[in-house]
Amino acid sequence: MIKRRQLLQFAGATTAMTLPGFSLSLSRRPDYDYVLTAEPTPLNIVPGGATPGLAFNGQFPAPVIRAKQGKPLRIHFINKLSQETTIHWHGIRLDNAMDGVPYLTQAPIKPGETFDYEFTCPDAGTFWYHPHMHSIEQLGKGLVGALIVEEADPPAFDDEVIVGLKDWRLKKDGNFMPLSEPRHAARAGTLGNIATVSGTRLPTFSVPANANVRVRILNMDNSRQFAISLGENKATVLALDAMPLPPQPLSVQALGVGMRLDIGVRTPAEAGVEIPIYDVKGRFHQKICSLRTTSPIRRSSPPPLPALPSNPVSEPDLTAAETLRFVFEWAGAMTPVSKSGHVHHEFWTINRRAWAGMHTADLPEPLAELSLGKSYIFELFNATPHGHPIHLHGLIFKVIKSDKRDITPFFTDTILLEKNERAQIAFVADNPGKWMYHCHVIEHMKTGLMGYITIS
Ligand code: C2O
Ligand code: CU
Ligand code: CU
Repeated sequence: MIKRRQLLQFAGATTAMTLPGFSLSLSRRPDYDYVLTAEPTPLNIVPGGATPGLAFNGQFPAPVIRAKQGKPLRIHFINKLSQETTIHWHGIRLDNAMDGVPYLTQAPIKPGETFDYEFTCPDAGTFWYHPHMHSIEQLGKGLVGALIVEEADPPAFDDEVIVGLKDWRLKKDGNFMPLSEPRHAARAGTLGNIATVSGTRLPTFSVPANANVRVRILNMDNSRQFAISLGENKATVLALDAMPLPPQPLSVQALGVGMRLDIGVRTPAEAGVEIPIYDVKGRFHQKICSLRTTSPIRRSSPPPLPALPSNPVSEPDLTAAETLRFVFEWAGAMTPVSKSGHVHHEFWTINRRAWAGMHTADLPEPLAELSLGKSYIFELFNATPHGHPIHLHGLIFKVIKSDKRDITPFFTDTILLEKNERAQIAFVADNPGKWMYHCHVIEHMKTGLMGYITIS
């Protein structure tokens, strides 16, 4: 059994001094105030030996950051890595300056330096955080964590489980194998060989019997796409990428890299019942973790599962929207060598252009320049034989159409485009700034499938 809730130390926000006449600094104090350090950390993933990981606050899984919808959050970040980094708050519609993208929104945080991230989360739900530099290595070695934004008016669940999915590429002795192999980067991405769920291999989470449990499932892997199912057991889909959906029974939900799924489970009345969670591949159900009931909550039966309140995302005006087209393509095996002798693989393009990583301060042109307040439709075409979870920073968009499936329009921050799929997303360009727009298979992004848009 593992601990499900890990609370970070608060840096004193709740014990503010209340000396009369000294309220000056208190008014500037955020409601949620954390200290987060990225540092090399030996991790116990395989029995053979320690893994030379990178971790937040010396632990994997990383601390769960909890914030409250509409309340200011500050994270004092300390870089104790030997590399530059920045931290990105995936899915949060925040101020552009806090988005954590090197060169685009802030200078890289050098080893030994600190940076204060301060923002307010307008939307509630399941989000996550990760570096946006040297991503194959920094995310691949452990720098990924859950960011939970609690509803301003929280729905009543009896318990909550965080299922953080991340695989590792390890040798028997615990050391890393190469985290990226060009032949895989040019296809579906380099997969790990050891799966962990919230830091443990095949964990069992204890939950009360006769209860309503909220399960937050986060795909924080570099490359792996999941298809989540509870098999014979019933669950209700509550939200995808933090955005509430009309409650519907879970059958199989595809979960691309970076995506999150919230489900509600009504547990049976008896203790000791196992409820497995699976990753489905065709007809094969691979168990990734389980819930197991402990003593029941005393009542005749749990009340109906609470629905999640909707988030305050603006409705795009489809009649006035301008349509922009984006084609995601496989570029072939291009391996240009830069002047400095570095090899930059370019396997993928967006609108015929590859962006092989942020190695310099020379930014390419934006993929599109949008006007603040206007509605847009992005027509996305995946002209490749691989799936791509396409993610847009700083905005929540509505998926309105696809030529591969029936769409009941829904809000999200990442759309998992199937091979050869053509889809439409729409949104109001209501958050000014420079926003990354990329595939979240980390190697795809690092070998070309990355760009940004501007809103001004
Ligand atoms: Cu998780 Cu650029 O995003
Ligand atoms: Cu993001
Ligand atoms: Cu991709």
